[in-house]
Amino acid sequence: MPLPASLETRSGSLAITAQVTVALAGSRSPRLQAAVLRTLKRLEDKTGQPLPRQLSDATQGTLTVAVKSDGEPVQGIDEDESYTLQADTTSVRIEANTTAGALHGLETLVQLVQPANASYVLPAVSIQDAPRFRWRGLMIDCVRHFEPMEVLKRNIDAMAAVKLNVFHWHLIDDQGFRIESKVYPDLTGKGSDGLFYTQEDARELVRYAHERGIRVVPEFEMPGHSVAWLVAYPELASGNRPAGIRREFGISDVALDPTRDETYDFIGKFLGEMVTLFPDQYLHIGGDETPAPDWKSVPRIVEFKRKNNLKDNDALQAYFNQRVLGILTRLNRRMVGWDEIFNPALPKNVVIQSWRGEASLAKAAQQGYQGVLSAPYYLDGMKPAGVVYLSDPIPADTKLTLEQQKLVLGGEVCMWAEQLNERTIDSRIWPRTAAIAERFWSPQNVRDVDAMYERLLSVSLELETVGLRHLSSQDAGLRSLAGSQNIAALRDFSLAFEPVSFGERYQQQHTSQLTALTGFVDAVRPDPPIRHEIELAAKVLAADGAGQSGKTATARRALQEFFAKTGASVPAVQQQMIDSPRLQPMRERAGQLAVLAQDGQDALRYLAAPGSAPADWKKKVLADVDAAKKPSAIVRFTFSDALVLMVNAVK
Ligand code: ACM
Repeated sequence: MPLPASLETRSGSLAITAQVTVALAGSRSPRLQAAVLRTLKRLEDKTGQPLPRQLSDATQGTLTVAVKSDGEPVQGIDEDESYTLQADTTSVRIEANTTAGALHGLETLVQLVQPANASYVLPAVSIQDAPRFRWRGLMIDCVRHFEPMEVLKRNIDAMAAVKLNVFHWHLIDDQGFRIESKVYPDLTGKGSDGLFYTQEDARELVRYAHERGIRVVPEFEMPGHSVAWLVAYPELASGNRPAGIRREFGISDVALDPTRDETYDFIGKFLGEMVTLFPDQYLHIGGDETPAPDWKSVPRIVEFKRKNNLKDNDALQAYFNQRVLGILTRLNRRMVGWDEIFNPALPKNVVIQSWRGEASLAKAAQQGYQGVLSAPYYLDGMKPAGVVYLSDPIPADTKLTLEQQKLVLGGEVCMWAEQLNERTIDSRIWPRTAAIAERFWSPQNVRDVDAMYERLLSVSLELETVGLRHLSSQDAGLRSLAGSQNIAALRDFSLAFEPVSFGERYQQQHTSQLTALTGFVDAVRPDPPIRHEIELAAKVLAADGAGQSGKTATARRALQEFFAKTGASVPAVQQQMIDSPRLQPMRERAGQLAVLAQDGQDALRYLAAPGSAPADWKKKVLADVDAAKKPSAIVRFTFSDALVLMVNAVK
């Protein structure tokens, strides 16, 4: 995962043993050598076999990596990322025009190695692979909650494992200024609580990402989302000056003053410094959500608009963007911005990141602008992998012409950080992002959701071995909640729950940057594997509840076990709540789980013996499900849809 563009399986396999030899038959760049050594280490861990570290310059080894050239020193969007991988029973050969392509081939190699009888083997395959989209990104908001460097590094490793190639680093927002400026030290001095990336950190992360074939596109929000700029340099404000970093989330009213030359001098000096840290050709200026009431009320600004024939705030923001674009052009950078920068006043070489809906991407492309789709890939919407997976930057029924389709560079997953912290971020991003990565990489017709979930299970484990904590963090969270190492019941209990969406949580819990994110909702994961498993089993039983086939029996057993286990966990968890105040908000949910787990077991019984359900039973269960849909403890049940499916199938 992502599924290659073309894959043929052959018969036989190559055993991975200590006798493996490794040859670099083309480029021997330090970047390629480091990548091959990392791969050998991973294969060693995976197979338990000690593997050599000599990288010979022979034309062939057991593993041969033949790369024509290292590629551009600064990876561009047109980098050739294709590779081929040929494995037979004696050797495997990866060929690529660039190191970036070879890196992808090495990731494929690691995924392919699998147990067979008593050893580990590489199945014989022939793969020809290349990405469908050039821009395959992940944005991480490091402002609302700061993410330490090691968190970013392990997420970059995970991105590489699923062949993503753009890390979009959201560095500035109302809640903090997270990148050091030596020209304007007060930006972090007053705007960061001391939580920021030094220039050394930024260089280190860019280097780390480049080693893994990943570009780093930094984002510097302006002219809105700018509280942190103005805390340090209030003279840049349009009017209203913030008293301090904004702890609340949502949209603030302040904005940089677009009418004064000093604003552009400041931005020019700041960005001039930033381009020395971030070599990527693209630089993101944010640009979203700028209500800027001061632009309608401050006489100086109102007069400026009149004099310059700028009819409204949008026109004024377009003027601002044009001046910033001038700065970026001087700095030899191309501008990326959120939807709101889309304005005919801007030239066609700006890139629009579409977050407010897929329509805006198409509209931008129709008017000749390049774009990146993000609207469907907001992870904080807590949609299951199977839903986000099917959203396509260029759907099969697109109305765009072929020329317009070329303007769609790809897509970006967005991880906003209001409701997560360094302990929970991995489970919010992964493994769902692996499914989206497949959408960005693989052919358009790779759309089988059940097959995707099956592969996602393996990839999820692979991602843990590169360092992610998306699986292990749940147990750590439960232990912390329980104040105990005895979490067996709590683990079963948690199978029934997942976090609600950003919007629902926002309504139910007043969170700010100072809210502790250590509740039950923070421990559980979105779209845990059990959700899809239960859904599949429920579909089988709904189609043939009394059936005797092996498939029906397996589904029945899985559901029986699930309802029995989750139901049985309730008394023990209720007991644990007495001494665990942070668990107590789950009291209502625990009561509901006891009822629904019994309903599930009843449904299984009635499905097996048609005609046995009492009158009104169905109505009672649907009422139980409805009651459980009401907001409580900012979590939702993982199985309510599956239960409804089963109940409706009862005769
Ligand atoms: C955004 O979500 N405001 C880009």
